Amino acid sequence: MSDGSSTYITTPIFYVNDVPHIGHAYTEVAADVLARWHRQSGDDTWLLTGTDEHGQKILRTATANGMTPKEWADRLVESAWKPLLATVNIANDDFIRTTDERHEVNAQKFLQHLYDTGYIYTGEYEGYYCVGCEEYKQPSDLVDGIGEYTGELVCAIHSKPVELLHEKNYFFRMSAFADQLIDLYESNPTFVQPESARNEVMSFVRQGLSDLSISRSSFDWGIKVPWDESHVVYVWFDALLNYITAVGYGQDEENFSRRWPATHVVGKDILRFHAVIWPAMLLAAGLPVPKQVFGHGWLLVGGEKMSKSKLTGIAPSQITETFGSDAFRYYFMRAISFGQDGSFSWEDLSARYQSELANGFGNLASRVIAMVVRYCDGVIPAAATLTPEDELVRDTGRRVTDAASEAIDRLAIHEALASVWELVDELNGYITSQEPWGLAKDPANRERLETVLAIALRGLGTLAVLLSPVLPDATAKLWSALGGTGEVTDQRLDRAWEWTGGDSVTPLQALFPRIEASVG
Ligand code: MSP
Repeated sequence: MSDGSSTYITTPIFYVNDVPHIGHAYTEVAADVLARWHRQSGDDTWLLTGTDEHGQKILRTATANGMTPKEWADRLVESAWKPLLATVNIANDDFIRTTDERHEVNAQKFLQHLYDTGYIYTGEYEGYYCVGCEEYKQPSDLVDGIGEYTGELVCAIHSKPVELLHEKNYFFRMSAFADQLIDLYESNPTFVQPESARNEVMSFVRQGLSDLSISRSSFDWGIKVPWDESHVVYVWFDALLNYITAVGYGQDEENFSRRWPATHVVGKDILRFHAVIWPAMLLAAGLPVPKQVFGHGWLLVGGEKMSKSKLTGIAPSQITETFGSDAFRYYFMRAISFGQDGSFSWEDLSARYQSELANGFGNLASRVIAMVVRYCDGVIPAAATLTPEDELVRDTGRRVTDAASEAIDRLAIHEALASVWELVDELNGYITSQEPWGLAKDPANRERLETVLAIALRGLGTLAVLLSPVLPDATAKLWSALGGTGEVTDQRLDRAWEWTGGDSVTPLQALFPRIEASVG
């Protein structure tokens, strides 16, 4: 992965009918950590995020609020979705909106191409549509409603009634691609990850694929079908194309071939769109399929997927205002196995903040730097003869550097962090056992004191570099306190064990200050 190769990572583009909650921020952070990791490994990296603005869901919300859908989308993008990126410190390279001209024009080119090559035809469809999912549902996807919807069939995801639609639409010949898709999943076992997601997708496609209705004519908030302006493009068909229109499809072939294909990070709720419909669309157009689709789990509240429509959404700022964006990023990447569901709790967040970030990492950094200030006037000492304990710390730095990169290659972000934390724990144990404050009492131990502090500082330098993709704020402060050259983000992750810090340290304020007030 550190060969300068092209790495293009995407998040889903988010519906602008409502404001973000921590489930959306979770996806953003995971994609951002992967992108930062690759960037710092020397790869030619591009991180794309954005908003999904067409379709009935947005139209209805805008109308209910007395605005045009575009006015509504503009307002939500500026007041909620772009600010989310700052709230959780996302270093995206681009932000695409499906109302951007670059998207609309080139999505139309894609559609026209499929029409011209015979992959689109006119047909009729009757089925149950869930506006929340923006998707036709099979009867098996529906459950009996409860409460106000008793007696009605509701969408299993949104718990809201579905609508019976009968429309004359344009259809995409998706059924023609079932065999090619099965070949793809079989020949490329990491195409859909994790394994549970791959199995689900394969058994779905093995049952055979139907053609897909890709236009709507009962409302007009969407991209016009280029050969029939009485239809707009189905919002999912429109949305998936963002991944290629954002990097030059249809207008900048050089950039397109430089970036595409992408690794798509998505929630498991939208796995089929990305692992079935999207590659089928690309195969039809003769374009390369995505590099990989990773379906992560859900943040659960009370055992159910957190969602605004069920009023269980927590705003990301509720967490970051108290704990900071680094802690948000760390907590969700560490506490949840990437690919599995996870329950959020304020107690768990507070406990991990205190024990792992404040005590484990922050305190270690402040103490070591304070000792260098106190015992060495801030001048970074050189190590003399190394003992086995010193060598163990140094070797751990090297070992966890490799282990963390290997975990990131498998998109196992939680495992990468667990590996790095072995060094945090090892350094804490080292300081306790070596007792530099005891060594400082006797000038005869001067050389040993300097060696211990040199080894500990080196370890901190390694941690600053390795943790920079997850804790960008704290590691920037630590790097500057270590007198490091340049920015920590310019340091190569795969060489994190090498000392590139400076000649002297400057005092470091607590990286993760104590949080007094009770939260929740
Ligand atoms: N607009 C579509 C995606 C189009 S991509 C071409 C969409 N948008 S969404 O606003 O509903 O956001 C979907 C994504 O937000 C999910 O796939 C997931 O990544 C994230 N999450 C939303 N709720 C979530 C949880 N409760 N838990 C984890 N992630 C969640 O679908």
